[in-house]
Amino acid sequence: MEWGKLRKAGLGLVLLWLLLATGPEEQHMAVGGEAQVELEEGGPPLVALTFDDGPREETTRPLLEGLALREVPATFFLVGERICGSETLIQDMAAGGHQIGVHTYSHIKLAGVSRTRYDWEIGSTRRELDKILGPGQWWLRPPYGILDQQIKSWADCPLVLWSVDPEDWKYRDADRVVDSIVSAAKDGDIILMHDSYPSSVEAALRVVDILKERGFCFVTVEQLMALRGEPVQRGVCIRALPPKN
Ligand code: NI
Repeated sequence: MEWGKLRKAGLGLVLLWLLLATGPEEQHMAVGGEAQVELEEGGPPLVALTFDDGPREETTRPLLEGLALREVPATFFLVGERICGSETLIQDMAAGGHQIGVHTYSHIKLAGVSRTRYDWEIGSTRRELDKILGPGQWWLRPPYGILDQQIKSWADCPLVLWSVDPEDWKYRDADRVVDSIVSAAKDGDIILMHDSYPSSVEAALRVVDILKERGFCFVTVEQLMALRGEPVQRGVCIRALPPKN
């Protein structure tokens, strides 16, 4: 667990920890800054929004603004070749309390690549992020979710997959994407989206509003694991955490 990277989202996380450990009479505290969350027995249902294939100024910027207004953290898996020129956007992403991970340098299908290529795809993207944000862990989401045993054995971090996929890249229709997510979302889910399309940005923010109304609390993948006591292990695929609420 690298607490330094949670600095910005730290207040919400600490408050949530406290809430989970306190009695019902104290279950009306702020989580994620000013956001008020009604807690049920054992804490609110947790869900992690994740975005692949960015960053992209035209769409990632309004998404960050919308998430900031709602005081909701998310997780962004960045494509290395898109990083140059987006330094400010990435700094703002980190400052907003979002988790940042890598989605390879060239959006390559990792299964079957050589060790040299694997190291370059991950290493060069991480070096770009280190230059902008300082050293970090930068977990991996493999493009297309395609993996093999070799990649799992090479990975030095968890491999983040997903449990809810609205196929927002295919259906550029916010209504459809919103329906697909809110009808499926349950405690512990990891939701896959792409911050590359205006329809996805619109859908994501509507999903936040609807699920918050239903009592869900949005967290990063790292926070989801920490809050559920899930160990951070290299090479382990994470699709969702078992539901508790
Ligand atoms: Ni992708």
